[in-house]
Amino acid sequence: MSYRKTLQLNNGISIPQIGLGTWLSSPQEVENSVVWAVEAGYRHLDCAYVYGNQEDVGKALKKVIPSVVPRGDLFITSKLWNDGHRPSNVEKQLDATLSQLGIAYLDLYLIHFPVAFVPDRGLFPERAGKPDEVEIDVETSIVETWRALLALRNTGKVRAVGVSNFTIEHLKAIIKATGERPTVNQIEAHPLLLQEDLVEYCKKEGIHITAYSPLGNNVQGKTKLVDYPEVKKVANRVGASAAQVLVAWGVYRGYSVIPKSVQKERIIENFEQITLSREDYEEISEIGKKNHVRFNIPITYSPKWSINVFDEEIEKEAEYTVKLE
Ligand SMILES: NC(=O)c1ccc[n+]([C@@H]2O[C@H](COP(=O)([O-])OP(=O)(O)OC[C@H]3O[C@@H](n4cnc5c(N)ncnc54)[C@H](OP(=O)(O)O)[C@@H]3O)[C@@H](O)[C@H]2O)c1
Repeated sequence: MSYRKTLQLNNGISIPQIGLGTWLSSPQEVENSVVWAVEAGYRHLDCAYVYGNQEDVGKALKKVIPSVVPRGDLFITSKLWNDGHRPSNVEKQLDATLSQLGIAYLDLYLIHFPVAFVPDRGLFPERAGKPDEVEIDVETSIVETWRALLALRNTGKVRAVGVSNFTIEHLKAIIKATGERPTVNQIEAHPLLLQEDLVEYCKKEGIHITAYSPLGNNVQGKTKLVDYPEVKKVANRVGASAAQVLVAWGVYRGYSVIPKSVQKERIIENFEQITLSREDYEEISEIGKKNHVRFNIPITYSPKWSINVFDEEIEKEAEYTVKLE
């Protein structure tokens, strides 16, 4: 059986529980991936301006709308990149995304990171005198950018707005200033990064979580989560693949999950629904209780962002903190 469930956001619209990730899918790969995914039954696509492949996602959309699926049955997410945070630039970057994707509206538009870069100097503006660093925009706050996203709701170009990579502190700041909760917080979450406090806070506030890197993003060459013995053991027990167990682990937690693949068999495999028992779920959660690994930390990127976003140990050396207001 494949995943068909949808979950409701706090503005009443529905989000399909499983989506296809597109980060690091090359322009050549992503067109086929999206077509295969939609043919396999995926109705939720996770995109972003910074992924540099939205035009190719757009080519795939032309192939599947309306022959495979009407536009209204798809849930398409994209994200505002850090160089577009100044309120006067927000709608411009949304328009660029819509034009790349070749669609009239997004189902969900997220602030990709609670970090602004100086505008009009490219996606990763070089910091003066420090070519291995990006230049942080110290003037623009997340509250200002959030207000600009809220204003987009009146344009007919977005059905919902939300955030990504926001901590409890960041969420509290934007809610306090505007009285408006994001519909979604898209965060890194997998058995090595349980995010229990954030998941619980979002549940209490009615903010839907979408879990990214559900298979354990492996750009750093560490042991892949699919190769962890705890995951393999449960996979053998339930007669599923390790990746299916990791997707089901996220589903068990009641949020949406967006595995990425560019391989047809894996795209199909990741969308096959399996069910975990409480015991299976807890056995896998033990991985993160013993070991905390966050893969996506901006200060470790190249070029480096010298800003403390998540308060991980390695971020303590950062020059900047997130500008809340
Ligand atoms: N908001 C954010 O800041 C943010 C950050 C990171 C990611 N995301 C979103 O979340 C999506 C998913 O996260 P992710 O791409 O970091 O990582 P992921 O989905 O956890 O893992 C993707 C990796 O797993 C491999 N894979 C996929 N299916 C597999 C299977 N069945 N068995 C074994 N390996 C498999 C993929 O290789 P193949 O492609 O070769 O199959 C790829 O190397 C992204 O694509 C993006 O849309 C958002």
